[in-house]
Amino acid sequence: MPKFKRMQDLELAGRRLLIREDLNVPVREGVVTSDARIRAALPTLRMALERGAEVIVLSHLGRPQEGQFDPALSLAPVAARLGELLGQTVPLLPGIEAAATAEGPIALLENTRFLTGEAANDDALAERLASLGDIFVMDAFAVAHRAQASTEGVARHASLACAGPLLAHELEALAKALEKPARPLVAIVGGAKVSTKLNVLDSLAALADCIIVGGGIANTFAAAAGLPIGASLHEASLKANASQVADKVEVPVPVDWMVGKRPGPDERAVLRLADQVADDEAILDIGPETARRFKARLADAGTILWNGPVGVFEFDQFGEGTRHIAEGIAESNAFSIAGGGDTLAAIEKYGVRDGISCISTGGGAFLEFVEGKSLPGVAVLEAL
Ligand code: 3PG
Repeated sequence: MPKFKRMQDLELAGRRLLIREDLNVPVREGVVTSDARIRAALPTLRMALERGAEVIVLSHLGRPQEGQFDPALSLAPVAARLGELLGQTVPLLPGIEAAATAEGPIALLENTRFLTGEAANDDALAERLASLGDIFVMDAFAVAHRAQASTEGVARHASLACAGPLLAHELEALAKALEKPARPLVAIVGGAKVSTKLNVLDSLAALADCIIVGGGIANTFAAAAGLPIGASLHEASLKANASQVADKVEVPVPVDWMVGKRPGPDERAVLRLADQVADDEAILDIGPETARRFKARLADAGTILWNGPVGVFEFDQFGEGTRHIAEGIAESNAFSIAGGGDTLAAIEKYGVRDGISCISTGGGAFLEFVEGKSLPGVAVLEAL
């Protein structure tokens, strides 16, 4: 278990708290389209306010050019949504000067990635950020894999730095799933490319009892197993890597697929046995018999780790496999943890939030943790 100071153990009344959250949420035309990360941060913010602290929230949004204001990546829509959820106004502070003199129970500093030196973890910027509060609270698991001024540097310069309840909860749930998992440990790794998940697949090969692969990743595994994959998205150069993973851990091979010519809202889904995919067909989901078998594996699992959908679930006709996986996890008695942007979207779409033991806010951070990498935003708290 990680060793760091925790926000809930500190005296907060009358203190100014600088709380780093990850409120990097999708925004379309000035409106937040998924507020899952904002909701996840609410218990931390409410606890700080209820215990009499003044709060300045830090977050990034997107990947803007540093040193420049970009209205499309302003946190204004996030401040508005956060205010609605908290039931109180959350002013948006345009910069560090405004934050230094801000008054009131809670405010949000504009996108930290507008600040020059954020990505490079510039010491002077980190020091200026740290000076905004009496206590720095790192609560942003989802960006803890980045050593940036508002995640790592600020903690080194703060007079007191600690972990927030959300960060601590996510780390503990991941540790529970990975360190002494109830067996069997079944991991679901979906997504377009093996190359982006190669490290996580290698780590899981040593840890898990079974890896269910999905999406383009599954196509590469199917090709490596000698199955025809037609015109499906895959990475031919990584077939050998897929075979190595499948030699170390059970990777069940699908027996049927849903195929189409190309993904699209009006594309008809056609059922094919796994050895009968035609040259001009693309695999876009697992088939019903495969879904039934995967679901049976989930029913028996002791621990489930889920990252990535198993089909192009944006289109309902190619979403059945992901729906079965989502429901299988929710119905299983296993301790389950899910993370990643697409995974969260699938959880929302199929309404299984309550059936999952821990939903991580992290995408890249979730994968790096599973790979066994140290997260700089956490390591700094442990070193203090
Ligand atoms: C995420 O969405 O995964 C985090 O907010 C980190 O964002 P980044 O990949 O732009 O650093």
